[in-house]
Amino acid sequence: MPETLGKGIPEIEIPPVESSAEAVAGEEVAAMEPPAPPVAAATAAMVVPGGLNAGLNGFGGSPAPLILDKRVRVIPHAVDSSVVEHYRKLRTKLLQKRDEKPFRSLLVTSANPKEGKTITSLNLALSFAMLPNFKVVVVDGDFRRGSLGNWLGMDRSHPGLSDVVEGTARLEDVVLKSDQIPIHFILRGTARVLDAHRSQFDAHFRKLGEHFDLVIVDSPPANLLADVQILAGSCDAVLLVARSFVTNRSALEKAVQDLQPFNVIGTVLNASVETRKKYYYGYY
Ligand SMILES: Nc1ncnc2c1ncn2[C@@H]1O[C@H](COP(=O)(O)OP(=O)(O)OP(=O)(O)O)[C@@H](O)[C@H]1O
Ligand SMILES: [Mg+2]
Repeated sequence: MPETLGKGIPEIEIPPVESSAEAVAGEEVAAMEPPAPPVAAATAAMVVPGGLNAGLNGFGGSPAPLILDKRVRVIPHAVDSSVVEHYRKLRTKLLQKRDEKPFRSLLVTSANPKEGKTITSLNLALSFAMLPNFKVVVVDGDFRRGSLGNWLGMDRSHPGLSDVVEGTARLEDVVLKSDQIPIHFILRGTARVLDAHRSQFDAHFRKLGEHFDLVIVDSPPANLLADVQILAGSCDAVLLVARSFVTNRSALEKAVQDLQPFNVIGTVLNASVETRKKYYYGYY
């Protein structure tokens, strides 16, 4: 990682996540597109301490048939249990940062597409949800290409953040929940919002922060769209994801530069093969 990231910003490496579905099929780890809505429920129910809706008042969420397809590279599907540890380490670093300077909303971004923003958002949310009574909502902030709904087996017609910003839906009505997954979600929605302004997000993210302990906003790539600047301005903190052997130095430096006005609290080196080696060697 480049020195330009500055002192005091934690850098955490996350290994490649291989899902059990692939292990069964004996396939190589390969990038996959979000799956089509699944035919049958594939995810085992996860226990939610204290109940998913405790203390959420009107923000408890509408029940939805959300399912994380077996192939989605999330902690519960990971073949290698060390993955949980790596995300826990990232969670600890973020909690330390939060002790220094409190934040509720966290934007997860990366320089370019396909570097792992959505996987990082989901796994981080799942890791935080393991803390007792900790409520997390993951918001798809990519109005143009957001794929969170696809990963969850929802079709595109479901209202989400864009509808709230457009003024055709209420925030509390677009929060989704499922007994199968211990986090809440807001999808990208159906409205075409082309010129969003920061003021359109500020109040919504603040409101979510009053009901949830952490609001994770999955964003579009920082180097491609100005939307990220608007979203970053509306969030309390920013986490930058870089993908091992994919993100090049100049792209990362540009993203760091563009995000300088905001509270960048950490970087994640995603899918780092070295991390896995280091972890195993640590046992000998
Ligand atoms: N740590 C990881 N290990 C293995 N595969 C990963 C990892 N992180 C991401 N991937 C895979 O890489 C692809 C892109 O990941 P993801 O969708 O999270 O990226 P993104 O930055 O959100 O992309 P986009 O810019 O399109 O929103 C997916 O197929 C995902 O399964
Ligand atoms: Mg994404």
